[in-house]
Amino acid sequence: MIPYEKLQSMPYGGDYNPEQWPEETWEKDMELLEAAGINTLTLNVFSWAAIQPSEDVYDFSRLDRIVALAERHHMHIVMATSTGAMPAWMAHRHPDILRVDREGRKRRFGGRHNCCPNSPTYLTYAPRLAEKLALQYRDHESIVAWHISNEFGGECYCENCEKAFRTWLKGKYQTIANVNAAWDTAFWGHTFYDWDEIVAPSMLSECGSWGGRDHTMFQTITLDYKRFLSDSMLHAYDLERDAIKKIIPGAQCTTNMMGVFPGLDYQKWAQHEDFVSWDNYPSPGQTYAEIAMPHDLMRGVGGQKPFLLMEQTPSVTNWQPYNALKRPGIMRLWSYQAIAHGSDSVMFFQMKRSIGNCEKYHGAVIDHVGTGETRVYREVASFGEELKKLGPAVFAKETKSSVALIFDWDTWWSSEASAGPTQDYWYRTEILRFYEPLRQMKVNVDIIGQQDDFSGYRLVIAPVMYMVKPGVAARLEQFVQAGGTFVTTYFSGFVNEHDLVTVGGYPGELRQLLGIWVEEEDALPEGAENHFTYHGVRHPAQMLCDLVHLEGAAQLDGAGYEEDFYRGMPVVTRNAFGGGQAYYVAAASDESFYRDFLTDLLAEAGTAPLTEGDADVEVTTREDARARLWFYLNHADGEKRVSIAAAGRDLITGEAISVGERTIAGRDVLIVEESLDR
Ligand code: GLA
Ligand code: ZN
Repeated sequence: MIPYEKLQSMPYGGDYNPEQWPEETWEKDMELLEAAGINTLTLNVFSWAAIQPSEDVYDFSRLDRIVALAERHHMHIVMATSTGAMPAWMAHRHPDILRVDREGRKRRFGGRHNCCPNSPTYLTYAPRLAEKLALQYRDHESIVAWHISNEFGGECYCENCEKAFRTWLKGKYQTIANVNAAWDTAFWGHTFYDWDEIVAPSMLSECGSWGGRDHTMFQTITLDYKRFLSDSMLHAYDLERDAIKKIIPGAQCTTNMMGVFPGLDYQKWAQHEDFVSWDNYPSPGQTYAEIAMPHDLMRGVGGQKPFLLMEQTPSVTNWQPYNALKRPGIMRLWSYQAIAHGSDSVMFFQMKRSIGNCEKYHGAVIDHVGTGETRVYREVASFGEELKKLGPAVFAKETKSSVALIFDWDTWWSSEASAGPTQDYWYRTEILRFYEPLRQMKVNVDIIGQQDDFSGYRLVIAPVMYMVKPGVAARLEQFVQAGGTFVTTYFSGFVNEHDLVTVGGYPGELRQLLGIWVEEEDALPEGAENHFTYHGVRHPAQMLCDLVHLEGAAQLDGAGYEEDFYRGMPVVTRNAFGGGQAYYVAAASDESFYRDFLTDLLAEAGTAPLTEGDADVEVTTREDARARLWFYLNHADGEKRVSIAAAGRDLITGEAISVGERTIAGRDVLIVEESLDR
């Protein structure tokens, strides 16, 4: 749980690294930050070397002073454990902590996020540091949350990892025969006779020299290795979390996630956190829906509970090819967007720009000039003022949605690692094909996992459900049977949880529900198109074209391929199944197709958009038993129109807002609080 009992107003602040600065500068930083309405500091993110200068020496004196300073200035503290980068002496004395990369090269000291997740040194010293920190700061009421390490991720192929992989496999499969079956090692005579014969799938073994996104020849092994690495890092997280909770049982622990990040199965990770937090760094040129999608994903991994926005830049990043400034008003707009999708905080990286090395030109609240006389500081301060008024009005409100998109890490890993059918396929893009029009249509969307409960939704969409995990097909059948609407696409139902093909005809376990058989799948090169007509409008069929036979499903009006030898075969099918409908979309198409198709699906599913208005105006809701908040966000530079769906109070100005047409200024936001008190 987000520690609401300690928070009077929304956490506003972020990473502050005073250890990079002379102590006499701290006081002035604090004055500036406090004056900007900053109330929360994430401290101690990268201070391991300072706190633990050698094996048994721990020195908290400087951190004590930083904590005292923050407390004097009424700050809440998010206390990081500092284990995101090892000290140099540790790497030198205990090289087991250094990773081995996929090429098989042993890394040397340098960089960050670089500890081997199975290194005995790391697994000893990291939780020990967490425990020492907990002992040192257990009585500090100012600490609202514990931030474990920083942005876990990356890979390691060292011998310790290889050994741990064998242990992990024993736990999962018990016998070597089960491993051989799960990995289909009869292929290319890879049969293992003994656990010790199993090696990590690196460039020295299974990777390289074969097509496919991840350049692996054995997707089965690579898939398990990805799961294993995610689990290994999660284990390291757990050790730190447990070390803290042993000392402070009520500690609220989290780690900052990275949204649509391929390295870790966040649906699994979130179960180990007290609440989800994440770092939002959109790429230049992303649409507002692309920026919204990871917020919904992060809310989803946490079981649709509110999350904390742990980092975003107040102005500019410095690690992208072109680091555009956030234009005036964009920081505020995107902060509200995070809130609109479930965030209960607005936090930045970082409070003060460093003077050296790779982040010296990354945006910060306090710039190198060192004063409050900057555009960025002024925007932060004025937004701080505004958030104070919002206070806890937003807290703990949940998003209600009748539409769910299924997003699954194993599906992501296995479908992108697949050798064939096309290099143009990306899982994230497939999710966005459906997510983007839904956003524009002003529909709340939950992003859920295969393991989640479908029964509360009217419409469940599973773009490229390549992998179908055990029991999921039956649960989808029940969902549709009971009246739900289900949609999936090409390249679905192909494999089981081991990435082994489900024989007996694609889409495998989904065949009966969809009432179709996919005999073949054609990959069209970039630019090539087939066509089909949907509701009288001609659309392209692109990228992948499935050759579908009807087995009970109906081909939707006109929706058949127009060219090539599979001319006339269906592109969009619908199967009546019990009280509901199951749809199949056999090829990728253009935006207007997805919009028209989704409009029909929403009607079919008996659900409607929240309201209507210009496409640039994003609308979401969050609610509890007493009030529903309506967020209207204008992502355009100029004025746009939206229809206000429910009357209430403008949460920012206090003004009464009535139902009906309204314009919203460019980059502006309207939050209407609708009372549900009866
Ligand atoms: C990540 C890290 C931060 C910082 C920012 C810069 O989110 O957690 O330490 O490097 O990126 O964008
Ligand atoms: Zn390792």
